[in-house]
Amino acid sequence: MNETRRAILEALDDGPVSGPDLAESLEVSRAAVWKHVEELRDAGFDIESGPAGYDLLEVAPYGSDAVEFGLEAPFSVEYHETIGSTNTRARELAVDGATDVVVLADEQTGGRGRLEREWTAPSGGVWLSIVVRPAIAPSRAPLYTLAAAVATAKAAREAGVDARIKWPNDVVIPVGDEGDYRKLTGILTEMEGETDRIEWLIVGPGTNANIDAEALPEGATSIREEAGDVDRRRFVQRFLEEFDAYRSDLESVVPDWRELALTLGQRVRVDRPAGEVVGEAVDITETGALVLEADDGRVTVAAGDCEHL
Ligand code: BTN
Repeated sequence: MNETRRAILEALDDGPVSGPDLAESLEVSRAAVWKHVEELRDAGFDIESGPAGYDLLEVAPYGSDAVEFGLEAPFSVEYHETIGSTNTRARELAVDGATDVVVLADEQTGGRGRLEREWTAPSGGVWLSIVVRPAIAPSRAPLYTLAAAVATAKAAREAGVDARIKWPNDVVIPVGDEGDYRKLTGILTEMEGETDRIEWLIVGPGTNANIDAEALPEGATSIREEAGDVDRRRFVQRFLEEFDAYRSDLESVVPDWRELALTLGQRVRVDRPAGEVVGEAVDITETGALVLEADDGRVTVAAGDCEHL
């Protein structure tokens, strides 16, 4: 969002301000203030002109301006009402050199899941992909996915649901107390780089937000089904702010992941390239690998499909 427009919105957020006062504090002409206000109105912000000056009555509908306004994290947002896949679009931006950009959509027509699976992504969800270029070793990249899972779980908990994490990075809602769950969020992470350097990383969490159960695959749930509709603007902002805090303090990701884990203490089966392993999930390592107490000893599993038994 243009800096002057952002400054106008921030000024109006505390109550009405006159055009001349805005012009003076922002060091622009009154005509420029008027032009920016008109542009903000065109973008959907409801700004009234009254005796006390301009007054912000309502933020624009869900979209890039609405999410960027009031966001306390340095991301720019590219919004699409409908798109094939936000991860695919984010890849194009990453290849062009972008960083700290979020691709956000109301609906995806070709949502992509892990392991080449399809991902159902109807209107009403929070489908997003973040492009970052972190100066970390590729072996630490999984921490970004775990950070996205913890950040999503926290945003969902603020929306009133008991969001927990199933290893490695599904956000789920527990059903009963035997380790059963319904899936709320899946995360697709993609990366380009060399053995010792990440060129770009795309972290793409998809959360079933304001969606009816009938529109979701079996075993999935939504925030709407669990707690009623969420304000998606607020949800995305909270998620991005948490994600931003974790990427500048990667050491805090795993301890916070443990706090929200549903998998720890469960008997699980992990399907991994080297074969299946069954045991009790006892911990995760500092890079997010799952530590299992299997019948024939301790095993550490870096990646795989995990099922609670
Ligand atoms: C999974 O298989 O659990 C991962 C699903 C990831 C879906 C999200 S929705 C936003 C982003 N764009 C995509 O095409 N996929 C991810």
